[in-house]
Amino acid sequence: MLYSRQFNSNWQPSTKSRDVKDGQTDSLSREPEMIRAFRDTWKDGIHSYLSYFRDRLFIARELLHSRGSIFVQIGDENVHLVRCLLDEVFGNDCLVTEIAFLKTTSATSRYVGSVIDYILWYAKDFERLKYHTLFKAKAAGADGAEHYSGLVFPDGVRRAATMLERSGIEALADGATLFTADQLQSAGMGREKGEGAASWFPVTFEGRTYRPTAQTRWKTNETGMARLIQAGRVIGQKTTLRYLRKISDFPAYELHNYWTDVGGATDKRYVVETAPRVLERCLLMTTDPGDLVLDPTCGSGTTAYIAEQWGRRWITIDTSRVALALARQRLMAARYPFYLLKDSAEGARKEGQFTIKPPRNGPFGSSIRQGFVCERVSRVQLGSIARNGDRNHLGKMGRDTRSTARSVERRAGTGLGGMGDAARGRTELARRSA
Ligand SMILES: C[S@@+](CC[C@H](N)C(=O)[O-])C[C@H]1O[C@@H](n2cnc3c(N)ncnc32)[C@H](O)[C@@H]1O
Repeated sequence: MLYSRQFNSNWQPSTKSRDVKDGQTDSLSREPEMIRAFRDTWKDGIHSYLSYFRDRLFIARELLHSRGSIFVQIGDENVHLVRCLLDEVFGNDCLVTEIAFLKTTSATSRYVGSVIDYILWYAKDFERLKYHTLFKAKAAGADGAEHYSGLVFPDGVRRAATMLERSGIEALADGATLFTADQLQSAGMGREKGEGAASWFPVTFEGRTYRPTAQTRWKTNETGMARLIQAGRVIGQKTTLRYLRKISDFPAYELHNYWTDVGGATDKRYVVETAPRVLERCLLMTTDPGDLVLDPTCGSGTTAYIAEQWGRRWITIDTSRVALALARQRLMAARYPFYLLKDSAEGARKEGQFTIKPPRNGPFGSSIRQGFVCERVSRVQLGSIARNGDRNHLGKMGRDTRSTARSVERRAGTGLGGMGDAARGRTELARRSA
């Protein structure tokens, strides 16, 4: 049964009258109908749920594009059973990953509280899967920056960062940056190592001579090592040399399969609503603008809502008219940011600024399939310094990166950030699908 803040019962005909109780004749909707939802459907227990679910998974597999993905969100009680089902239907070689995400920060339970939910992600064809890496900003004190414990000043002086500096609470001195001491030796397989091998040479640094171990070699050759030293990127330790990696070298990190920052849905319409950010990530990792997304259990319509925001086409289904009413209301009232299309004069100009190349000339067709303009971050790597010295190198951060925050919003004529109202959003969608 679908219970929510707005809907006390599946029999409640409208969000305006909330005094509806199950089991009371007076409370029946004006148009009584059979509404199947969780509590009723699974009265025969987990077995009935699993056989229902397996049937749907077979159909979902048939419907899925050869490069497509399926995501199943499930709690810790049944994750093992549902994963077995997915293995059966999709094959365990099509498991992409099991994502764990923090749904709440505290939970009461007789024993240990359960604060995470899981997303089981399978591909229709693991080899052909459409996948875009997502990145998050790396900043002092946040995820991805845990190992940056040193502080280096513009004159090359280094010291350990204090807890306040590491956590981002205390501002760093002008020009100072956090760093970590990274590997400068590589143990890559299949390459010759030891005396006489390429990139196996003694390095004299600050009065000491260092050699790679018998099992490793330097990550660069002698010229590259000289450039690293000149750029202040080498740290001499007792027995080895390490590479000084600055946090500013690449202020982003790749998303992994443990998400602590997505939370549960805020202002939930009902208890099992998925957090929009979870859906957003799944969608951005596996689809492009113009692709088609299906959610066969619509609920309050979070999938359609997010798909609409990101220019994906969508279909959603539910057995409950209440869920559909709720989703419809949400979609009609939604307001979204507009993003710059690559296939537009304005978008091409912005791309040109980001890539430092002359902008593409028209004609432009405003095709959403060519995607949105995304911000870039520069990436300085050991290899690039070894080849060119310490100059910044522009790296592509990935498509649709940093999800909502970082796709470049189109400025409205008013000079304000262009927020689309629902009508404009729908016109866009109609044009997209035309
Ligand atoms: C967990 S909620 C959906 C959550 C939603 N997908 C989201 O991401 O927020 C489950 C929904 O599935 C619907 N449902 C239950 N059985 C169904 C069935 N056999 N076919 C379609 N929808 C069903 C329920 O009415 C309920 O709205």
